[in-house]
Amino acid sequence: MATSSLSLLLISSCIISVLLQAASASKTRHFKWEVGYIYASPDCNEKILIGINGQFPGPTIRAKAGDTIHVELKNTLHTEGVVIHWHGIRQFGTPWADGTASISQCAIDPEETFVYRFRVEKAGTYFYHGHYGMQRAAGLYGSLIVDAADGEAEPFRYDGEFNLLLSDWYHQSIYDQTVGLSSKPFRWIGEPQTLLINGRGQYNCSLAAHLIEGSNTCETTSKDCAPVVLRVLPNKTYRLRIASTTSLSSLNLAIGNHKMVVVEADGNHVEPFMVDDIDIYSGESYSVLLTTDQNPSSNYWLSIGVRGRKPKTSPALAIVNYSPNSPSKLPESSPPIAPEWNDYNHSKSFSYRILARRGAPKPPQSADRRIVLLNTQNKIDGYTKWSINNISLALPPTPYLGSMRYRLKNAFDAGTPPENFPSSYDVMRPPTNPNSTQSSNAYVIRFNSTVDVILQNANALAVNVSEIHPWHLHGHDFWVVGYGDGRFDEKDVARFNLKNPPLRNTVVIFPYGWTAIRFVADNPGVWAFHCHIEPHLHMGMGVIFAEGVEHVGKIPKEALVCGMTGKMLMHNHLP
Ligand code: C2O
Ligand code: CU
Repeated sequence: MATSSLSLLLISSCIISVLLQAASASKTRHFKWEVGYIYASPDCNEKILIGINGQFPGPTIRAKAGDTIHVELKNTLHTEGVVIHWHGIRQFGTPWADGTASISQCAIDPEETFVYRFRVEKAGTYFYHGHYGMQRAAGLYGSLIVDAADGEAEPFRYDGEFNLLLSDWYHQSIYDQTVGLSSKPFRWIGEPQTLLINGRGQYNCSLAAHLIEGSNTCETTSKDCAPVVLRVLPNKTYRLRIASTTSLSSLNLAIGNHKMVVVEADGNHVEPFMVDDIDIYSGESYSVLLTTDQNPSSNYWLSIGVRGRKPKTSPALAIVNYSPNSPSKLPESSPPIAPEWNDYNHSKSFSYRILARRGAPKPPQSADRRIVLLNTQNKIDGYTKWSINNISLALPPTPYLGSMRYRLKNAFDAGTPPENFPSSYDVMRPPTNPNSTQSSNAYVIRFNSTVDVILQNANALAVNVSEIHPWHLHGHDFWVVGYGDGRFDEKDVARFNLKNPPLRNTVVIFPYGWTAIRFVADNPGVWAFHCHIEPHLHMGMGVIFAEGVEHVGKIPKEALVCGMTGKMLMHNHLP
């Protein structure tokens, strides 16, 4: 007895000293941000957008794995609320800091402040963005980069790095866009005017001319839209961190004469593989290694083009500038051209090559529950919507996290949404009964259980149209265990990859295809799972997962000051 309690004491003091060591190495990083409207000219055209501390894109957060991020966010938008979501960060133990309006918290009112405090557990390339209405598309985003903890190393070497945050840009305001999408007849937002790299692009003006001094044909001399230059030394290896926060566009990135080696996807190491170009969907991030082994007397184009929709937007260009060449020396070879927009085989072969790095954690070999989600475009009373198993997501006024934690009745629609869709449904044709319903109901998942989700794509409202949808899960990484064309079938389970499926937080479904993911519901909270295309989410393309909410700690009051929890706070009825 005495010996066992002594050894227990020794073991626990060991654990404590390990914890202390970890604690002394990790830091809390403080940021004080004000979200406000600013004038900027990201593509040489002036527009009002939503920036942070007067900047667009917002300031880059740089931290080390294990650090705590503390952002004191003040809303200085005069007439609208705001929240910020930390895309790819699990928020383990801090689900109220996930930054999703109506889900994890109440929107922060004008002149109010909310503190986001959370830990970044894992090195990788992440970003943050608005998650209320369509504020992301108004420019409310920035990079969040987590380096390996002190004493830890990434499993690849590089001499320098560049960060490329990709987005698409519309001249129409998000208010205009939002009203159009919710109007009868429906008004679609169309294709973006410009693609941006780190918040900069050139609309309707020749980049070549912009680069050559004295022959600037662009309408403005604004630095806001100066082309991005990657200054490199010959015979070095650079890590390019690439993330996409586009509103609509799927993108392809290539560098003239150079190959790239993919090493990271969504903050997880992948088995390195070499490519000429990469496809990147909204919500995804990658790291690629670029070796500057080409003729150093020349510069080269980095080009980004649109995939999956007939492009009406010019490619975005940046210059890979070999030192000591002048950055305005035009590359001798023309910019790489993206594959045909509808060459889905090209996209699929890229996606299928992404596999977990050797030694990565393997998924549980079986699942406790399977949820099949049919993605369709529908009508509700003549309004155009996206639906999942015939339900279009309508967010409730009281955020789920608070209403579930305090078991409030009638805060959102009762009942479990369907786990499947009728076997008679033909995914290759437009819906025969296009009418769907709206709901705020949620999938409640048993804590610590393993869930398979099959995302099933289908034909949209128009004949012969099926679109790409990048699905993003909050609060988790998931394993991508399979892809297929056509309708998912029970026998497809046998060919799931359970050996080396990649861990990700975003995955695409290809037109008329399905994608299968597996995750462990081990993070107490309420989590959005949705298409990352901003107008699609606005049109209802998402679902809500809730797990272990009874284990959620004390939710900060500021997250609860609206709807039913707000009333209860007012009357002192919340613990
Ligand atoms: Cu980056 Cu819910 O999204
Ligand atoms: Cu979508």
